[in-house]
Amino acid sequence: MVRDISNSISKLHKISIAPMMDCTDAHFRMIMRKISSKALLYTEMIVAQSLIYTDNREKFLNFNKEEHPLSIQFGGDNPEYLKEAAKMAQDWGYDEINFNVGCPSSRVCAGNFGASLMNYPSKVARCIEAMKNNCNLPVTIKHRIGVDNNDSFSNLNNFVRHISQAGTERFTIHARKAFLKGLNPKENRNIPPLRYDIVKRLKDENPSLLIEINGGFTNINQCIDGLKFFDGIMIGRSAYKYPLRWNEIDNKIYGEKSLPIKASDIIFSLIPYIENHLEKKKKSWDICKHLINIVESIPNAKKWRNNISLLSIKGSLSIEKLITLTSELKSMGY
Ligand SMILES: Cc1cc2nc3c(=O)[nH]c(=O)nc-3n(C[C@H](O)[C@H](O)[C@H](O)COP(=O)(O)O)c2cc1C
Repeated sequence: MVRDISNSISKLHKISIAPMMDCTDAHFRMIMRKISSKALLYTEMIVAQSLIYTDNREKFLNFNKEEHPLSIQFGGDNPEYLKEAAKMAQDWGYDEINFNVGCPSSRVCAGNFGASLMNYPSKVARCIEAMKNNCNLPVTIKHRIGVDNNDSFSNLNNFVRHISQAGTERFTIHARKAFLKGLNPKENRNIPPLRYDIVKRLKDENPSLLIEINGGFTNINQCIDGLKFFDGIMIGRSAYKYPLRWNEIDNKIYGEKSLPIKASDIIFSLIPYIENHLEKKKKSWDICKHLINIVESIPNAKKWRNNISLLSIKGSLSIEKLITLTSELKSMGY
């Protein structure tokens, strides 16, 4: 019997922005939140064990209150560490915990977690239970459709049914299998073909499970179509590289009466945030490396981005200069 979780709050998250190492830090999430007030945002993957032993937990866990709804993604395979990490996630105020069973990197798989865990459903179930039993947050999972030779539909079906019994509230499925040997993580995001049909069959055969699909979504209309079959759509690389192309999420997916926001509006609205960051003697590039991606597909976009990047990397981008350059964008209508 599959547990009915159709009333879960997770159902509200029709669109999410994927966890991406070195991309979805708090600064990127602040930018993305200006673009959609509704999409569920994720942290980068945090290894549960590192969280237990670090002497700088804040670095991993701190976030801005504006980032809600926010899911924290954990990697690991030790229920004891995950249990402690789950308590911390709750104490810090996250909205959800997501468990990574999709990362194919050799470092991650050498630790026997990430995508390699798809071969060990009982272990995954123990990890989920450990987190569920130690916090009140929804616990969700992100995984692939298979790994190596473990790629039959029946194994995938058994996997999600088993894990749902442990209390998993949503399944985010990257619709590709992963090759744990022979392909690096980047290749594993491109070479194995996308198989939306398999994820659709999984949803058809398990209608009460919340299933979010991931992989290859590049525009809002594709998401609108996808939502006819799936409970949610997760957007990764396209949201990172072209954030502003997603400025219709609130309007077209959630029915909010929001006007499309411009790049200059976003930058101006982030000025206090950037000022605050600089006052702490931190680098403007921490934020600008993400921010430059919102200026694209407009005349002289590359020049604008290069200008900001050079000044920012050199450490000579003042707030006044950023305002001047952004005013130029605004005067051009962007
Ligand atoms: C730079 C980068 C880092 C990633 N890091 C993570 C991660 O930390 N956790 C995770 O579950 N997936 C990670 N992914 C995979 C994405 O979440 C997503 O599953 C994948 O990019 C496919 O979605 P897309 O085609 O919309 O990009 C990463 C992807 C990229 C490009």
